[in-house]
Amino acid sequence: MMIMKTLLLATSLVTLTACGESNKSQSSNDTGRWYNSSQVAQGKSVFKANCASCHGDKAQGLVTNWKQPLPNGKYPAPPLNGSAHAWHHPKAQLLRSINNGGIPLGGTMPPFAKKLSDDEKLAAIAYFQSFWPDRIYQSWSQRN
Ligand code: HEC
Repeated sequence: MMIMKTLLLATSLVTLTACGESNKSQSSNDTGRWYNSSQVAQGKSVFKANCASCHGDKAQGLVTNWKQPLPNGKYPAPPLNGSAHAWHHPKAQLLRSINNGGIPLGGTMPPFAKKLSDDEKLAAIAYFQSFWPDRIYQSWSQRN
C-alpha cells in the first residue's frame, strides 16, 4: 500500500513537471530561445500559406523517408521539425535556404527572397523551431 502511494505520487510529480515545461516552451521568451510567441504565431500563418504544401503544416514533412529521391530524381522536402537536418544549420543559413530556395543547387524549393519580408522569414523559422525539442534546440545553439 505504502509503495503504491509513493509510486502514484512520483508519477504525478513527473507529469506535473513535464506539463510545466511544455507550457513554458509554448508561451514565450523565457525559454532561452531567440524568438517569442508572437513570432511563432505569425510564423504559423506564413508557414501555412507558403511552406506547408511541401513541408507539412507542422513542418513534419510529407514523405516517410526524406533521404530517398523521388521518381524524378529530386529530393522531397525534408521535415523542419527537428527530426531531419535543419538543426545542423545556423540561422543565417536557414534564412539563405528560404531566400534562395533549392533550385540553384539542383533542388526544387522556390526562392522566397522577394516573396516574404525579413520578419515573415524569421517568423517562419521561429514556427518550425517551435517544434524542436529542447535537446535539439540546445544542440543547435551550441553548434552555432
Ligand atoms: C515546392 C515545395 C517547397 C516549398 C513551397 C517550400 N519548400 Fe523548403 N524545401 C523544399 C525542398 C524540396 C527542399 C530540399 C532542397 C531542394 O530540393 O530544393 C527544401 C529545403 C528547405 C530548407 C533547408 C532544410 C535543410 O535541412 O537544410 C529550409 C530551411 C526550408 N526548405 C524552409 C522552407 C520554408 C520556411 C518555406 C516557406 C517559406 C519553404 N521551405 C517552402 C521544398 C519546398
